[in-house]
Amino acid sequence: MISDKMTQAFNEQVNREMYSAILYMSMSAHCNQEGLKGFANWFMVQYHEEMFHAMKIYEYIQRQGAQVNLGAIQAPPTTFESPLEMLNQTLAHEQFITRSINDLMELAISEKDHASQIFLEWYVTEQVEEEENDNDIIAQLKFIKDNPQGLMMLDRELAGRATTVPTDFSKGIESAMAASGA
Ligand code: FEO
Repeated sequence: MISDKMTQAFNEQVNREMYSAILYMSMSAHCNQEGLKGFANWFMVQYHEEMFHAMKIYEYIQRQGAQVNLGAIQAPPTTFESPLEMLNQTLAHEQFITRSINDLMELAISEKDHASQIFLEWYVTEQVEEEENDNDIIAQLKFIKDNPQGLMMLDRELAGRATTVPTDFSKGIESAMAASGA
């Protein structure tokens, strides 16, 4: 079991992860419109990652016998100045998510909720990777500056990113992970 306070905090995190998903979906749509198909692919893979993050928490709440309460998801921005601006926004958003995961962990610790602490460890590790990925692309974009050839090369590289997380959750997280080899 988890406390009502913990349940509410996890539900709020589901909402944040789903907002992350549509934020990156919106960035993907913008990149597609701009002809940056590789960036569009990278952000769409990111969309799938975020839906996986949301679904893991959704299922954890249910496995703990608690109630999932889905709320309204804020509309994302739809236009962006440049790839660098998008990645800067992505990094800032991921830093916000990292802080919210840390807050969840603090709550689990304060409640001596060991199960939630163990569950949240995966997210703590994941956030390091999320921020690292964004920082890597930002560094490349700063190096490229206004060089179209460099941007096209990076776009081609980002086109190669593949979705490694499951995308069908109809039979639950465990079987989705087994089916996708994640
Ligand atoms: Fe679910 Fe990108 O953090």
